[in-house]
Amino acid sequence: MNMICRSSNTTKFGLCLFLLTTSFMSARTSDTINTSQILSDNRNDTLMSSTGALALGFYSPGNSKNRYVGIWYNDIKDKTVVWVANRDYPLTDRSGVLRVIEPGRLLLLNNATNATIWSANISSTVHAPLARLLDSGNLVVVDENDESNIIWQSFDYPTDTFLPGMKLGKNFVSGHQVYLSSAKSNDDPATGGFTYQIDPSGYPQSVIKDGASVRCKSGPWNGVRFSGSHNLVKNIIFTFGLVINKDQVYYHYTLLNDSVYMRFKLSESGEGQRWLWSYQTQNWLLYHTIPTDNCDIYSVCGAYGVCNTKTSPYCTCLNKLEPNDPRGWGADDFSIGCGRRTPLNCQEGDGFLKYSGVKLPDTEHSWSNASMSLEECKIACSKNCSCTAYASLNISNGESGCLLWFGELANMREISPGQDIYIRMAKSELELGSRKREILIVTLSVVIVTVLLGLSLKLLYSLKSDHQLQERNYVTGGPRRNYHRHQSREDMDLPMLDLSSIIKATDHFSINNKLGEGGFGPV
Ligand SMILES: *[C@@H]1O[C@H](CO)[C@@H](O)[C@H](O)[C@H]1NC(C)=O
Ligand SMILES: *[C@@H]1O[C@H](CO)[C@@H](O)[C@H](O)[C@H]1NC(C)=O
Ligand SMILES: *[C@@H]1O[C@H](CO)[C@@H](O)[C@H](O)[C@H]1NC(C)=O
Ligand SMILES: *[C@@H]1O[C@H](CO)[C@@H](O)[C@H](O)[C@H]1NC(C)=O
Ligand SMILES: *[C@@H]1O[C@H](CO)[C@@H](O)[C@H](O)[C@H]1NC(C)=O
Ligand SMILES: *[C@@H]1O[C@H](CO)[C@@H](O)[C@H](O)[C@H]1NC(C)=O
Ligand SMILES: *[C@@H]1O[C@H](CO)[C@@H](O)[C@H](O)[C@H]1NC(C)=O
Ligand SMILES: *[C@@H]1O[C@H](CO)[C@@H](O)[C@H](O)[C@H]1NC(C)=O
Ligand SMILES: *[C@@H]1O[C@H](CO)[C@@H](O)[C@H](O)[C@H]1NC(C)=O
Repeated sequence: MNMICRSSNTTKFGLCLFLLTTSFMSARTSDTINTSQILSDNRNDTLMSSTGALALGFYSPGNSKNRYVGIWYNDIKDKTVVWVANRDYPLTDRSGVLRVIEPGRLLLLNNATNATIWSANISSTVHAPLARLLDSGNLVVVDENDESNIIWQSFDYPTDTFLPGMKLGKNFVSGHQVYLSSAKSNDDPATGGFTYQIDPSGYPQSVIKDGASVRCKSGPWNGVRFSGSHNLVKNIIFTFGLVINKDQVYYHYTLLNDSVYMRFKLSESGEGQRWLWSYQTQNWLLYHTIPTDNCDIYSVCGAYGVCNTKTSPYCTCLNKLEPNDPRGWGADDFSIGCGRRTPLNCQEGDGFLKYSGVKLPDTEHSWSNASMSLEECKIACSKNCSCTAYASLNISNGESGCLLWFGELANMREISPGQDIYIRMAKSELELGSRKREILIVTLSVVIVTVLLGLSLKLLYSLKSDHQLQERNYVTGGPRRNYHRHQSREDMDLPMLDLSSIIKATDHFSINNKLGEGGFGPV
């Protein structure tokens, strides 16, 4: 006999025991069905997980009259469905029955016609199949004599909800991908247009797609979080992680307290929503969403553009790059992105500029090695002319590993905490910065020395000779000439800064600027 209520609450426990005794007279409440049992809509049968936290049964969503087999939280009055069996194959009346048949198939039948409405695909078979609803919300089909032998589970076929314990990702051996797809509407759980998946191509990132087009990409997993998921931080409610090995890649999370309910749902409008149940207020609290803001929209600033919600416009070019289409850029059309002022010249040897505090770019076209050091990573990138950038792969325990990018860098934003990336630049671009700086230092020194000299000379001779005027002219003339020379050199730079619209963002990139030109010392 299965206990169907939460033992933590004694009064509820008593109530549930009462329900359990009465339930034998009408509807079934157990956590399993075997081959000689059925779950009937007509009889209001439900399966109840062993603690009574989750229930499986027939329901009608929203204002719909259609019937679906779903799993929901048993003690939440406003029915919150976390999985639907027949989302694309609704029953139009209460004639549905769910059964499990040999060699292990789960079937939803129309009792009136015997027609199969929905069935679960299985790859292996057993003699005595048993369907069991687990406390995690996972409906499993197992071998009655060996329940560790799971031949099918609903966690492998989620609908729009990612539950704790689920493995969202891809199995490279079977090729099976576990991902979320949105519902059409509140009244219709049918497969909608949006998906949320872990895309392992290049290096794993989480992706929200609208049909075939990308809506958001989280940036690569960095050992701690997805590079761009700034609202996914260490917390006291749940832990999370990404498992990457040769057989599979999957994203998972685990609640630290079993009596907490949390679910991640891909909404009808394509928003990833993490919800937390509040016992106090008896409703779901929105913990966080993806996208969080405009800057989470995929590559909103185009190639080499960087998004920042705090600046206006919210797109800027990476320092030392400029908009490919300054007019479009001025009109808030950032899609064409930015380009280098000086083209790369791999043969002559390029260098790398360090940018900090960023969400790493889309890794769809990237290469990784978990055991390389950052220095080896730099060498590997220098050696391959199509490598555009490199970064540390894993920042969970110091920095380790190597990530190389090929092609344009897209989907970057400024973020805190952010990461470092080293981007390939023409050598002249790197030197120009330092040469200018040296000139500036020299010029300023000359100015200061000459002015001081001039002032002392002025003091010495102020009351004296007829040469006074001539001398002063010489002294002030010198620095002024120097100043002009220095200014004319800077004049060449200013229009470039103007053109690339960086001025507004200069503050923002000041750290990057300094780090980028590090080695010459701060001025
Ligand atoms: C199914 O379970 C019921 C109740 O536990 C039992 O009476 C019946 O023999 C079982 N049938 C099979 C095929 O195991
Ligand atoms: C099943 O539930 C419906 C709606 O709550 C009710 O009208 C019906 O009488 C119930 N059927 C049985 C067999 O308990
Ligand atoms: C199945 O259908 C038959 C006849 O249509 C009906 O007598 C029976 O009660 C139904 N059984 C269930 C479990 O719905
Ligand atoms: C459905 O199938 C069962 C057994 O497979 C059979 O006994 C029953 O008559 C069938 N009902 C209909 C309506 O075909
Ligand atoms: C079962 O597999 C078939 C063929 O691969 C597929 O068309 C169908 O959608 C699958 N059904 C489910 C419920 O996954
Ligand atoms: C990142 O590094 C940590 C500590 O070295 C390690 O435990 C973890 O497996 C690594 N993660 C990935 C995804 O490589
Ligand atoms: C788990 O959460 C429940 C309900 O909020 C609380 O009463 C309980 O103390 C928590 N348990 C732990 C181990 O934190
Ligand atoms: C990764 O880097 C290590 C250390 O440099 C090297 O031994 C190994 O062969 C590399 N693996 C691949 C697949 O390139
Ligand atoms: C550079 O890297 C690309 C992508 O990994 C690869 O296809 C190409 O062969 C490499 N070129 C050299 C010269 O190693």
